[in-house]
Amino acid sequence: MGFEQAWLNYTERTSCEGADELQYICVDIEEDFRPAKTGLTEFGADELIENGVRELQNALEGMTGCRPVSREQPDEGAGKGIHLLFQKGIPAEGYRLSEKDGSVKIAASDSRGILYGIFALLRQIRIGKTLRGMEFSKTPDMPLRMLNHWDNMDGSIERGYSGESFFFADDEILINDRTVTYARLAASVGINAVVINNVNVKDAATWLITERYLGKVRELNEILSGYGIRLFLSLNYAAPVELGELESADPLDERVRGWWKKRMELVFREVPGFGGFLIKADSEGRPGPFTYGRTHADGANMLAEAAAPYGGLIIWRCFVYNCQQDWRDYKTDRARSGYDNFIGLDGMFLDNVVLQIKNGPMDFQVREPVHPLFGGLTGTNQMLEVQIAQEYTGQQRHLCYLIPMFKEILRFRTHVKSKEDTVRDIVSGKAFGQTNCGIAAVANTGNDDNWTGHDMAAANFYGFGRLAFDTDLTAEEIAGEWIGMTYGQDEQVMETLQYLLMQSWPAYESYTSPLGIGWMVSPNNHYGPSVDGYEYSRWGTYHRADCQGIGVDRSHDGTGYALLYREPNAVVYDDKEKCPDELLLFFHHIPYLWKLRSGKTVIQHIYDSHFEGVEMVDEMVERFRKLRGKLPQKAYERMMERFVHQKEHAREWCDQINAYFYRKSGISDERKRKIY
Ligand code: GCU
Repeated sequence: MGFEQAWLNYTERTSCEGADELQYICVDIEEDFRPAKTGLTEFGADELIENGVRELQNALEGMTGCRPVSREQPDEGAGKGIHLLFQKGIPAEGYRLSEKDGSVKIAASDSRGILYGIFALLRQIRIGKTLRGMEFSKTPDMPLRMLNHWDNMDGSIERGYSGESFFFADDEILINDRTVTYARLAASVGINAVVINNVNVKDAATWLITERYLGKVRELNEILSGYGIRLFLSLNYAAPVELGELESADPLDERVRGWWKKRMELVFREVPGFGGFLIKADSEGRPGPFTYGRTHADGANMLAEAAAPYGGLIIWRCFVYNCQQDWRDYKTDRARSGYDNFIGLDGMFLDNVVLQIKNGPMDFQVREPVHPLFGGLTGTNQMLEVQIAQEYTGQQRHLCYLIPMFKEILRFRTHVKSKEDTVRDIVSGKAFGQTNCGIAAVANTGNDDNWTGHDMAAANFYGFGRLAFDTDLTAEEIAGEWIGMTYGQDEQVMETLQYLLMQSWPAYESYTSPLGIGWMVSPNNHYGPSVDGYEYSRWGTYHRADCQGIGVDRSHDGTGYALLYREPNAVVYDDKEKCPDELLLFFHHIPYLWKLRSGKTVIQHIYDSHFEGVEMVDEMVERFRKLRGKLPQKAYERMMERFVHQKEHAREWCDQINAYFYRKSGISDERKRKIY
């Protein structure tokens, strides 16, 4: 196995007060805490604990040079050790970490909590915090902390930028060392659920729920569950038809319902502890209940009913829109479609259905408003979907640290209630007392040695998991943790990489499409500038630029999208005087000489931000250059190659966008810089 992210390598010696005195690990069970409840056998531990203990031993040995032994009971005079303690009263998956007289206690009420506590202890050590007097506890904020892999069974990955799939090749499921390392990697950042196949389920993937694959699915599930991860599959809604067994997939047809009941029984029996299914229906050519004149509630509830006896979840995506739009049509608005399709169904879904909603109403652009279904829905389980695969944010060739964006989304006040109304409150279950909810990210991994293509794109993987677990962490804190975990404590490395990460999203936003309009990318591969690439297409993704101005009128005079939000958001977005600059062109068609709240005209903002974005990247590359000799050489070289490309590519973006708007508007740059 090639290079692995250093936060799992543990090879470098780390100094942390208290860590190298730890000589043994033992599992304690508090009186009357029954083994049945913990999953522990009478003699020892369940698989999670065993894996956790191994993790502790390997890591401590790697970091401090001493390998603690594992024992049943601390003998008299055994010295200082780590006690894994099962205790009542700690919430599910949570842990409590403490140190007293040189010994460390990790307490939890379940094995997952112990495992997370173990990783938290290792983090403390690796980032150089003292263990002396340590005392803190944490319960994960999001019930579901999920990765959605868009891997195809032929080994390709839809929107994958780090090699091929490590789950599939040649229509087979792969199980090897990397599977285990993946489980460790995901668990170490707190992930507790994964979907391994693409939401666009076709061909062989339709057969994943049949005997052809279930044996391997079970094997994979065993590995993942040993690290507290529930396995899910993406499902083909038309499976009964495409597997050649029925002529219909009508959710109200008794034969179809019966077929799914039998199918679910098979899958859940063959794969104990299986999580459930993710479904993309009636979207971008995928089949769904619309074919039969039925609603998404009909479709989702049919599956949910069949999965319910086994505790299975049906995660149903709200990414539903008409992708055959006529660009001449100014009335239809893709941004509205998710809301329009689902709002009328609020309260109609069974309790084991979760609606998975993309962060914005379009599709993972560098800037979008928050999806109006958040705050719109009040009686439905909801999950937030973000994308760490950088489809529209530089495809892991550009650095774009997305955690600051996710923080903004989670902080957004929907005003669905007077208090506890943020997206975070909704998807963590706090707002409406739900438990089937959480956050999912479209994953950015592949079989590249470094997992994520760009070494620093791993900060998005790490950061997503950490943020889902602990939404109070700031983007800076998470960046600092990731840097420390990966490259150690050198001050210059820490400062420089932190600067690069924190600048990267603002820089990317500056040199790409302006003021929230999005979409000026090359069609299909979505990489690089092409201002009119999607302007005359069927995808509903337009900027409507002419010689006077630019932007889509989504106000009450236009498509009315702005009014889908609760007050006061609606009134703010609806009014161009009040709308935040960074979203202005998303909501309004604006003349080039309109003055922004910043005091600049729209056209001058376009010019300035693009030139500034390029300067930001130039500065980032200069700072990175100074880390030569401070980072592992291969990693430095890999990153440098990408930064050199980013620098050139940022200039390409800037020049194309500026040239386009100069030619459209005929208005010169006040600062007389070179525009082509
Ligand atoms: C985007 C992406 C597709 C993907 C889709 C989805 O449109 O480009 O590749 O299938 O999102 O989220 O389903």
